[in-house]
This record gives sequence, C-alpha cells and structure tokens, in this order.
Amino acid sequence: MAEIMGQLIDLGAVHPPEDATPAVLADVPLPGVAPDDFYVSTIYPTEVLVGSTWIKVQNQRMDGAIAITHTDLGPIARCKLLRDLAIGESVVIGSDGIRTQRSATSIKKASTEEFSFMGAGVSSERRVELVVEQIAWDLRQIRDRGGKVVVTAGPVVIHTGGAQHLSHLIREGYVQALLGGNAIAVHDMEQAMMGTSLGVDMQRGVSVHGGHRHHLKVINAIRRCGSIHKAVEQGIVTQGIMYDCVQHQVPFSLAGSIRDDGPLPDTKMDLIEAQTDYARLLEGADLVLMLSSMLHSIGVGNMTPAGVKMVCVDINPAVVTKLSDRGSIESIGVVTDVGLFLSLLVQQLHKLTGNYAKV
Ligand SMILES: NC(=O)c1ccc[n+]([C@@H]2O[C@H](COP(=O)([O-])OP(=O)(O)OC[C@H]3O[C@@H](n4cnc5c(N)ncnc54)[C@H](O)[C@@H]3O)[C@@H](O)[C@H]2O)c1
Repeated sequence: MAEIMGQLIDLGAVHPPEDATPAVLADVPLPGVAPDDFYVSTIYPTEVLVGSTWIKVQNQRMDGAIAITHTDLGPIARCKLLRDLAIGESVVIGSDGIRTQRSATSIKKASTEEFSFMGAGVSSERRVELVVEQIAWDLRQIRDRGGKVVVTAGPVVIHTGGAQHLSHLIREGYVQALLGGNAIAVHDMEQAMMGTSLGVDMQRGVSVHGGHRHHLKVINAIRRCGSIHKAVEQGIVTQGIMYDCVQHQVPFSLAGSIRDDGPLPDTKMDLIEAQTDYARLLEGADLVLMLSSMLHSIGVGNMTPAGVKMVCVDINPAVVTKLSDRGSIESIGVVTDVGLFLSLLVQQLHKLTGNYAKV
C-alpha cells in the first residue's frame, strides 16, 4: 500500500486536506548519509507538510532528499544531494505529507511512457524543419525578453561543422551559458588554431598528415597560457565558440571525464566542483539546448527542475528517449545530425529576423 501511495503521490495525487498527515522526519545519521526510506525528490514542484504548514521545497531537482532545517522564521525545506546532507538536518522519509504539482499532460505522458514526438516520425526532414522553426521562435522570444538559454554541447558539434553556427548563436545573444566537457573546447580551439577537428581538415573533409596530434598541441598551447580567457587575450585563439564566449562574456563550465586528454586548465577534474558549477549556470534557465553529448545532457537533465524547456538533439533515438523518460512535457527530442540541426536553426533565425524587419 505504501508503495502504491508513493507512486500516486509522485504522479501528483494528494490526500484530501482532512486526511493529510504531516511528513515523517528522521535525523541525518552521518554527514552525507540519509536515513533509510528517505523520500527521493522529482523534478516537479513539491510541497511538504511540516507540522500543520505546507512549505514549498526549494532547489527542486530529481534524485535528491528533502532536508528540513528549523530557523527563527520557521522550517525551510530544500532538495539536497545526499553528499550535502549535514548533521542537524532532518530528512523526509516515506511519502506522507508530500504533494507534487503535475500537469495533466505530463501525467498522461509518464503513465503511458509515450514520447509522442518520437511516435510522430521524428526522422523525416520535413518534421525536423517544423520543430526547428518552433525552437527558433522560442530562442528569439527568450532573447528578446532577456531570458536565459543554456547550451550543453559535445565535440560532435565541431566534427559535424556546427561550430560556426553555434558561434553565431553566441554572438547574436541567443546563448547565456555554455556547459560541456574538455573535448568541445579542445576541438573548437583545434579548428580555430589549426583548421582541423580531430585531425580532419574542416574545409576539405579529409584527414591531414599528423592531424591526430593537433588537439594535443592545442591543449599544450592553452596550458602554457594558463586558461582559455588568457589564450584569447594573448591572441592565441582568435575565433570559434570558446573565443566568442570570452568576447561576449558568456560564462562556460567544462566538466572533466576519464577520457580527457590534457586536460585544458579550465576543465574541472573535481566532479563535485563541476556539478556545482553546472548547477550555478543552470539557475534561472528558461530553455536548455542539449547538443550531442549523452553524458552532459543526461547530467544536466537530472539537475533541471520541471518547467524548464529542454531540447535534446542527438542522432541516437535512445539518447533522446532517455531524456524524455523524465516524463516532462517540456522535453522536445530531435533525432538528426547536430551540424545540420544548427545550420537549419540559424537559417530559421535569419528568416525570423527578416520577418521582424518587415514588420
Ligand atoms: N580528447 C579528449 O579530451 C576527449 C575526446 C572525446 C571526449 N572527451 C570527453 O568525454 C566525455 C564524453 O564525450 P561526449 O559527450 O562527446 O560523448 P557521449 O558519448 O556522452 O555523447 C556523444 C553523443 O553524440 C551523439 N552523436 C554522434 N554523432 C552525432 C551526430 N552526427 N549528430 C548528433 N549527435 C551525434 C551520440 O549518439 C552520443 O549520444 C566528455 O566529457 C568529453 O569532454 C574527451
């Protein structure tokens, strides 16, 4: 019964007010450890009944625990990662005294596990164009009202010729933060400094002799400068995505991984520090554009609350579906080549700008 109730509550079911029972709390037994049976948070706005008062949970994200701290102004409820739980805090256990807000559409989606966009035949060119048109419209609206778009991107963006288009989006003010790993920055600057991406000449599309060493030379050059910002200041990097981020004050965060060469001095090899930095840059995002990085897209998806629109572009339908499994109605999946997607997106934005000019 408790299990069924837990599932219903996750779908947004609430007890009638007269039957609502306060949340059961237990103390944090050890720093970074939750009591057994702790309630696992979701991406949906959540309230918790502490004593006789419903309080809104802050820092909503999935896969956390709800920690309650008592202050002079009353109790505060916050979603916290297990590692951040501290002695002196109480944690909600079970699912009594929890209510989540779910839209009717997201419930239907979660219960049928249907990703309607995929079902509608995403791979046809016409369909992709229609979705890109919608995304271009959203980007334009968000930029014009001073909103926030966060892009998370992998090195495939560079390998598929998408760098010039992503650079364009940054220069035109459509991107307010960039999240990635070592590789996107390395290959972007390889292209900027040596004209290749992973040793492939980006103009001619052929591998160049000794090209597999290019990215290591680039890493070395940036390490000598001390940071990407300094490499731009010193005129070592004069174009590309990272250059445009520096020039247009778009903050970026590069999370390390076990695959990384170098790494670049900017790449955060302390993953706790990297996760915190990602979360900081995601704060207040209206839309997250996830471009061909399974690792970073799923990581970002897990720390993003419901209500933030997510667009995931990947050539592998399984990656897109994995993101949609959050059950969030705000997710849009586009199964296509990321270089083509970015090229179409920039074309659509040009069209919109043309229309605006006529008006
Ligand atoms: N030299 C290096 O330091 C180096 C090189 C590569 C990766 N890495 C690091 O490894 C980690 C994982 O890298 P990742 O994010 O690239 O790998 P990933 O496997 O997590 O994601 C790559 C995604 O790109 C998709 N993809 C492939 N071709 C595509 C195309 N043409 N269009 C659209 N999508 C396409 C794949 O389906 C996959 O989902 C990152 O931290 C990265 O920085 C480091």
